[in-house]
Amino acid sequence: MAEVVIVADKDEAGRLVAAEIVRQIVANPDYVLGLATGSTPLPVYEALVPAVADVDLSRVQGFALDEYVGLDPAHPESYRSVITREVVEPLGLNPDRIHTPNGALETIAHAGEDYEAAIEAAGGVDLQILGIGSTGHIGFNEPGSSFASRTRVKTLTERTRVDNARFFDGDISQVPMHCITQGLGTIQRARHLVLLAFGESKAEAVAGAVEGPVSSECPGSAIQLHPHVTVVVDEAAASRLKHADYYRYALANKPAWQGL
Ligand code: GLP
Repeated sequence: MAEVVIVADKDEAGRLVAAEIVRQIVANPDYVLGLATGSTPLPVYEALVPAVADVDLSRVQGFALDEYVGLDPAHPESYRSVITREVVEPLGLNPDRIHTPNGALETIAHAGEDYEAAIEAAGGVDLQILGIGSTGHIGFNEPGSSFASRTRVKTLTERTRVDNARFFDGDISQVPMHCITQGLGTIQRARHLVLLAFGESKAEAVAGAVEGPVSSECPGSAIQLHPHVTVVVDEAAASRLKHADYYRYALANKPAWQGL
């Protein structure tokens, strides 16, 4: 069962998760951080900036969850650009140690296998940050994705393309049709999953992921099969959780020796 932490707001969530990441990097300078795009992880990245001021990040590696297929990596909305702008530059990470799946058409046939090999060569992901889409997707694993899936090309749902059109001048025709995403099986191999969600629009997806039946209908429900999951949500995103009172009670009575 995931540990569910209900926080007052995004800033509190950002500080909480950033503090845990810093604690882990200090303990292990060869840390491998799983990065997510979208608006949800931004408070974590923002909170990391002051928190890592005196921390050596030179050996840290990062792996993004996903990328659009066929979009120029220099496009401002490619996930390579987003990760560079929101994570690599503000934190001063070595860009050569930050990886995104390669969405170039010329190499797409083996890009998934290449990415899996790169994650393995790095020793696997220590902590994977996750947002959740309104379809219940994590990464770009849309409903119906196999729980055993590895990094591969997927077709985006119309709903996700509409949701993401806001990054493309509101024009869905500019949103790529295909993506390359870590699979649910890839995500499961990260040692710690931290899923964040804020706002009423995520409440149903959060309830499905945390308490719903484990089903590929809600790809986020794959987190229920993982031994170490932390779900950090605000009150609105927690509003459809049946056991919210129990999560609060468990947190209030959490043994001091347990970390996040
Ligand atoms: C995209 C990303 C997901 C992210 C989702 C939610 O589809 N591929 O990783 O979780 O958007 O985005 P947001 O956090 O902006 O709501």
